[in-house]
Amino acid sequence: MSGIIIVGSQWGDEGKGKIVDVFSAQSDFVVRYHGGSNAGHTLNVNGKKTVLHLIPSGILHDNVQCVIAAGVALDVQGAVKEIEQLKAAGYLQNPKQLLISESASLLLDDHPALDKAREERAGKSKIGTTGKGIGPAYEARSARKSLIFSDLFLSDADLQDKVEKASAETRFLLQEYYKVEAPTTRQILDNLKKVRPFLQDYRCSNASSVIHQALEQKKKVLFEGAQGTLLDLLHGTYPYVTSSSTLAGAALSYCGIGWSHIRKVIGITKAYTTRVGEGPFPSECHHAEAKHLEIKGMEKGSTTSRPRRCGWLDLVALKYAIRVNGITHLALMKGDVLSGLKKIKVCTGYKYKGQILQEYPVHFHILKSCEPIYTEFEGWDQELQDVRDIEDLPEQFRTYIGFIEKELNITCSMISIGPQRDETIWLQPLF
Ligand code: IMP
Repeated sequence: MSGIIIVGSQWGDEGKGKIVDVFSAQSDFVVRYHGGSNAGHTLNVNGKKTVLHLIPSGILHDNVQCVIAAGVALDVQGAVKEIEQLKAAGYLQNPKQLLISESASLLLDDHPALDKAREERAGKSKIGTTGKGIGPAYEARSARKSLIFSDLFLSDADLQDKVEKASAETRFLLQEYYKVEAPTTRQILDNLKKVRPFLQDYRCSNASSVIHQALEQKKKVLFEGAQGTLLDLLHGTYPYVTSSSTLAGAALSYCGIGWSHIRKVIGITKAYTTRVGEGPFPSECHHAEAKHLEIKGMEKGSTTSRPRRCGWLDLVALKYAIRVNGITHLALMKGDVLSGLKKIKVCTGYKYKGQILQEYPVHFHILKSCEPIYTEFEGWDQELQDVRDIEDLPEQFRTYIGFIEKELNITCSMISIGPQRDETIWLQPLF
């Protein structure tokens, strides 16, 4: 069992990019299994910031084999841009380091157009999507009219035929229903043809088999989740969710591998909570505390630059995330951001119509009316970036961590106290 799944346990932006980058040093493979350019994984190495949207975060280690699996909504132009940037920065010098599943769905130019038109029309009841076309791309796959990555390498005539068939309905919707301009077949086709030569080298006809063989050979394989548990299409805070499954179990189906190779599921958890976009957020805080978290945590979306909504750690939601993902260990992120707060709150229950709820209510109409019940902790002033041993953390922070572990009956494998690779306290080995 040499597979480890990394999953976001909140609403995304927990710090998965840093963790996958740090863990990659100990891994042979890093596999991105779902989502698309809506994700933004930020890596800080030697004072330099790299933001990846599609390419697995293991790419900064040249001995790590990176794979984009079938479950990803592949924005080919975005992928080419990222590849070029990585190459210019001295990474990905060997094209064999990156494999893209030929079964991944292509995100076409008309998908962002439809995503944005819908949000515009929805007005106040919009989802607050990233506008990257993720919903329409996954819908096309479910409707069995997606192009897949292998289609990109068909003859021009066959590719044109596929694009015409795939985009006819979307164009009708955009022009006739939303009354906006739609990209023409020619534009979509030309953009695909432009990127074709750049992506030829990364084709992988059977990524499921490549990953399976690596696992059989006991290679260390890290599955990199995007977004977070509460954005899961089926089990998140629907309808304010993304269009893929964000749970650990999805790593298996989106990659096409069996469960028996999975050794651990690590839930990446920010020491507080953030959310981008609309939707209920019971432990959201406001005023000076929210400003502290937003500014010190640099809580701005790495894909859309939108400010993130900030709030306290929510153990009701976290218990739910542990259950639906089968999380075995936590990685506690951004502990340093809490330094300087006088009091720190943790949500330990929800009050709904006079009752205390034990289970996370995923239904929107209940969740939006839940009142958080808080336990309060003393804050601390010490800055944490230089700490490398848990014993050197302020006592108040150790109390906070101990409370989380006890309430959730789970161990923290590592604590992150800064964006850089070495600003990490290891409590357990990864593999
Ligand atoms: P979509 O994935 O662009 O359709 O957006 C649906 C919802 O998921 C919106 O609330 C987005 O803000 C949120 N979302 C999508 N990707 C991310 C992410 O990587 N981090 C945080 N939120 C995200």
